[in-house]
Amino acid sequence: MQEEPLGLAHAVKVARPFLGRDPFVMYLGDNLIGSAISTFCRDFVAGEVDATLLLKRVGNPSAFGIAEIDGQGRITKLVEKPKEPKSNLALVGIYLFSEKIHDAIDQLKPSWRGELEITDAIQVLLDHGGLVSSHEIASWWLDTGKKDDLLTANTVVLDEWLKHQLDGEVDSLSELTGRVRLGQGSRVINSKLRGPVVIGENVRIESSFIGPFTSIGDGCRILGSVLEHCVLLEQACVEGVDRLEDSLLGKGSAVRKNQGSHQAYRLMIGDDSEVLL
Ligand code: G1P
Repeated sequence: MQEEPLGLAHAVKVARPFLGRDPFVMYLGDNLIGSAISTFCRDFVAGEVDATLLLKRVGNPSAFGIAEIDGQGRITKLVEKPKEPKSNLALVGIYLFSEKIHDAIDQLKPSWRGELEITDAIQVLLDHGGLVSSHEIASWWLDTGKKDDLLTANTVVLDEWLKHQLDGEVDSLSELTGRVRLGQGSRVINSKLRGPVVIGENVRIESSFIGPFTSIGDGCRILGSVLEHCVLLEQACVEGVDRLEDSLLGKGSAVRKNQGSHQAYRLMIGDDSEVLL
């Protein structure tokens, strides 16, 4: 286990006793693509290259690792989050490596942000004559580390994979339409749910409307509110809110209507939050 967030290459270093000399896939957990990677894996194992990178053209290259390529489509240079990008080909967070990546990682120094960057390790491979191939993927790619991508990923996953399954209780005043998954110990009271909606365990939903493409984590409470196209992480609470949409609520967070006499907002805002009033 990586005890501290010291970079993706550091994560590989930590995993080295497990990986041994085998070729491996590094798949960043917050990346989602619309196609399988089995063909890339087969080609990689059958081929001679030391790394295979997946690339996708993006409109905001400064937010990613970027690959510069020559006229023949060969990678000439990789730059992590360049301020002045010379290409719009982003590195998708899915990499295939041979054991040579370990030697490259051993030569790294922490970057300006104090991390051992996997992008730098691949650059070391290139500098030492290592063979690095790339594929520009045709399918969609979402980096769910960002809010809008996370909400889109939620929509795609619910749309394509959610199955109707009720393991919790729904009272006779409530109405469910479409695909709804309701976890154990959860209760829906006097509410309307319109799928696709997924609700975790031990959630209480009362006098509310939950609209399509909403995911609600374990232990959440929703009272007298209308929600649509939202993601609520564990133990979040929404109370007396007329309409909440396209929103992401962190663990244990709460959005409540202010019952006080004067019109004031009371907020506790976590890192990287955004509030639109
Ligand atoms: C990481 C990589 C970056 C890559 C991105 C894809 O960035 O360092 O090269 O383009 O994943 O999601 P991070 O998301 O850790 O900032």
